[in-house]
Amino acid sequence: MLIAPLGPAHAAAAARLHILGQPGTFLTSLGPDVLAVLYRTLPVWQGGFGFVALGASEPAPVLGFVSATTSVGGLFVEMGTRRLGQLLPPLLATYAHHPGLILRSMQTVLYPLLSHGEGGAEAELLSIMVEPAERSRGVGALLMQALVYECLHRGIPTLTVTVDAANPGARRFYARYGFELEKEFRMYGRGMCSYRRRLEIRD
Ligand SMILES: CC(C)(COP(=O)(O)OP(=O)(O)OC[C@H]1O[C@@H](n2cnc3c(N)ncnc32)[C@H](O)[C@@H]1OP(=O)(O)O)[C@@H](O)C(=O)NCCC(=O)NCCS
Repeated sequence: MLIAPLGPAHAAAAARLHILGQPGTFLTSLGPDVLAVLYRTLPVWQGGFGFVALGASEPAPVLGFVSATTSVGGLFVEMGTRRLGQLLPPLLATYAHHPGLILRSMQTVLYPLLSHGEGGAEAELLSIMVEPAERSRGVGALLMQALVYECLHRGIPTLTVTVDAANPGARRFYARYGFELEKEFRMYGRGMCSYRRRLEIRD
């Protein structure tokens, strides 16, 4: 297995893993095409970065990925301006079938304020997803390690993450990596937990 930087070529695989890993959540409900725009944008935008775990066979399958940003608000602005042409067609198609998602999308714009706030030298882990058949084999650990080193390399001393309160597996995973619960809040009618980790080289 190889850990490599997340690139636009991994967007479709990342969108698929996101949907498999986060069933029933708001972003998943927007569908694979909207998520693919997000994962095409993130690695080429200055405030976004991530890693993929690639399998050994050819063409190398994406076994998992992690993504992060130094500004969730900035990412929303990028998606809503320079990426709007790519974003609108799949987004409008989704809204046509599920109009209730329009209100949830508006709530999403408030997310940076509800979770950790914006500003300061920190990055937010947006998603970490491993192919279901590959879980509990250390892929997530390797992705987290790569992300931590990248943050340190960029001079970012703090990593935050928000997780659905009803995702005990992910909460266990973050607790294992030294994330401390900072705040609980409600969004999309669900309980959410914000975690924060001070970074140091120890993984
Ligand atoms: C959380 C996740 C990325 C961890 O990846 P991983 O490759 O299984 O991680 P590791 O093998 O390094 O560590 C395994 C630990 O992750 C945790 N874990 C969380 N959800 C899990 C799941 N569905 N299956 C297995 N382990 C899970 C457990 O603490 C597990 O430890 P254990 O095997 O001793 O119980 C992966 O399980 C996953 O994709 N989950 C679904 C998506 C998700 O909830 N992502 C987090 C929110 S963005």
